[in-house]
Amino acid sequence: MNRFWHETISELTPYTPGEQPINRPQLKLNTNENPFGPSPKVIDAIKENINAELRLYPDPESEDLKKTLAQYYHLSKQSVFVGNGSDEVLAFIFQAFFQGKKLLFPDITYSFYPVYCKLFSIDYKLIPLEENFEINLEKYNLEHGGVIFPNPNAPTGIPMNLNCISDFLHKNQNTIVVVDEAYVDFGTDSALCLIEEFDNLIVTQSFSKSRSLAGLRVGCAFAQPELIEAISRVKNSFNSYPLDRLAQAAAIAAIQDENYFKKTTKKIIDARSFLEQELRNMNFNVLPSGANFVFTCHATWHAKHIFEQLRSHGILVRYFIKSNRIENFIRITIGTKIQMQTLAKVLKQII
Ligand SMILES: Cc1ncc(COP(=O)(O)O)c(C=O)c1O
Repeated sequence: MNRFWHETISELTPYTPGEQPINRPQLKLNTNENPFGPSPKVIDAIKENINAELRLYPDPESEDLKKTLAQYYHLSKQSVFVGNGSDEVLAFIFQAFFQGKKLLFPDITYSFYPVYCKLFSIDYKLIPLEENFEINLEKYNLEHGGVIFPNPNAPTGIPMNLNCISDFLHKNQNTIVVVDEAYVDFGTDSALCLIEEFDNLIVTQSFSKSRSLAGLRVGCAFAQPELIEAISRVKNSFNSYPLDRLAQAAAIAAIQDENYFKKTTKKIIDARSFLEQELRNMNFNVLPSGANFVFTCHATWHAKHIFEQLRSHGILVRYFIKSNRIENFIRITIGTKIQMQTLAKVLKQII
């Protein structure tokens, strides 16, 4: 600790993202990126916007992007917020609604949540997943100041039924409930249809996964206008221009190219089914996934061994070294069918 550091800073344990190796591995399946590039229309939109207008600040409110998202999801523009990746959007939400409150989230979930809690001095309680790694919202019916969980959950990939979320919202109308839908487009039902009914629901989504724009950093939140107004207040007290001109143009083009989106997400879902079957044939236990990754453990070989062996073959997957309950699991990002065939072939050699 440096003598100029504030106590809060010295006590922080920052989030550790999955490795981004300088020398490209043969197969990078560790950070849930999309194996297909963004839509060609997205690339065109970026190219069109590489011009002298870049000397100007971007639209601080990303009005066109919000309008596009609002139309796409049949919501009002005032129900949409956009930011620099859903990580930033989540940070604003934590700051806007949870400071001084007790937040509940699963014990095994996206590891950025406790980091934001520490940063913003938010108290939190971890609610254990069930034995089968499912989130049981019945366990959240206790005194609290807010709830957040991903659907599907990360890193398990397990999707939750929309009826469970709706029931929970009926029982918990006085605190904010955030559903983090970073991976929702890979076969999980979205809670967006509940926004009109519940004034305490916030849904966040990401352009990093199904829209293949992790490198541009675009995320969004949807809620009733008064909640969006609060998130915007935080944003405008921090950074007026979170989305640059290229990101705004690209995100609009990504939403508009529905065919490409449908085609690529279907390919990923099909490749996931293929890999799940291959893994099961090799004696892996694969948790049900509604995401672009699977969470799996082998009947005999330890996850660390598999992770290291794959790495020595140039294949990078995610291994959560620190966590007891999941230390025997690896998380594998779904790539193309050919990539999944390569992975399966190498796994057969290893085990
Ligand atoms: C559950 C979950 N939420 C949010 C994010 C953040 O996504 P991004 O900031 O790239 O939009 C991630 C990233 O991996 C995630 O796993």
